[in-house]
Amino acid sequence: MSATPHTPVPHGLDDPLPMTLPRLAEKKRLGEQIVMVTAYDYPSAQVAQEAGVDVVLVGDSGAMTVLGYPSTVPVSTDEMLMLASAVRRGLRTPFLVGDLPFGSYEASDAQAIGTAQRFVKEAGCDAVKLERGGTSVDRARAIVDAGIPVMGHVGLTPQTATALGGYKAQGRNAERALQVARDALALQEAGCFSIVFEAIPAAVTTALMPRLEIPVIGIGAGADTDGQVLVFHDLLGIYDGHAPRFAKRYQDVRAVMVAGVAEYAAEVRAGSFPGPEHEYSIDEDELERFTAGLG
Ligand code: KIV
Repeated sequence: MSATPHTPVPHGLDDPLPMTLPRLAEKKRLGEQIVMVTAYDYPSAQVAQEAGVDVVLVGDSGAMTVLGYPSTVPVSTDEMLMLASAVRRGLRTPFLVGDLPFGSYEASDAQAIGTAQRFVKEAGCDAVKLERGGTSVDRARAIVDAGIPVMGHVGLTPQTATALGGYKAQGRNAERALQVARDALALQEAGCFSIVFEAIPAAVTTALMPRLEIPVIGIGAGADTDGQVLVFHDLLGIYDGHAPRFAKRYQDVRAVMVAGVAEYAAEVRAGSFPGPEHEYSIDEDELERFTAGLG
């Protein structure tokens, strides 16, 4: 990839311009990295907004990180829409992508279009994401034809991890790498505006990049993509489940949260919270009238 970096596209709190598809394409053209993060609620969306990210994904990883399911498979469309609506309320400028959950788009083009429309109409998403090549290519084309931008997702696709042999890197032999390539190129040809590469060898990414005209966002796919995405709870250290090799932990927020709640519990038990500064007052004469009223 990598054209010489140019004047950066402005972003962040001071930026009144919302991220758009042309601006994302321009970032790829200029060789500016696209920053994407997941979010699942109003406060995480506000954090993403203030940190100046370009794209926010309401990932179905939220099934595990905020809803406590053992995988992404059980989450329903209604649950995803509730998360996405909350994220929408916390965002101004980042481009908002909603993840179509497992079982909500595979059966037919009509099903895929109907679900995608719900993400746009009910949750205010700018685009949707779906996983895999194969029949998902037709679904992507149908959604794009219905006027909704689609992000593809190849490599490790957690919704079908069982069929892939588990949560492990994909494309690690020539045949499997060629399959990743075929899926990515088919999704591009179907009209996807961008594609996620998850857990594939960096060298496979490097070989594929010259063939992709749309922005490629990597997660465990090396440094040669047009941008990176991380799961909010992985990067901040909020989730205590298994963190994949590719997830860099920038903070240990869970430890801070546990320490805060533990301190609160200790103070309540010791009688040192609440203190006078947390109390409301009442005028002396009003208090006398009140106690008299009580008899
Ligand atoms: O659900 C999710 O968080 C994702 C990202 C890992 C791309 O699909």
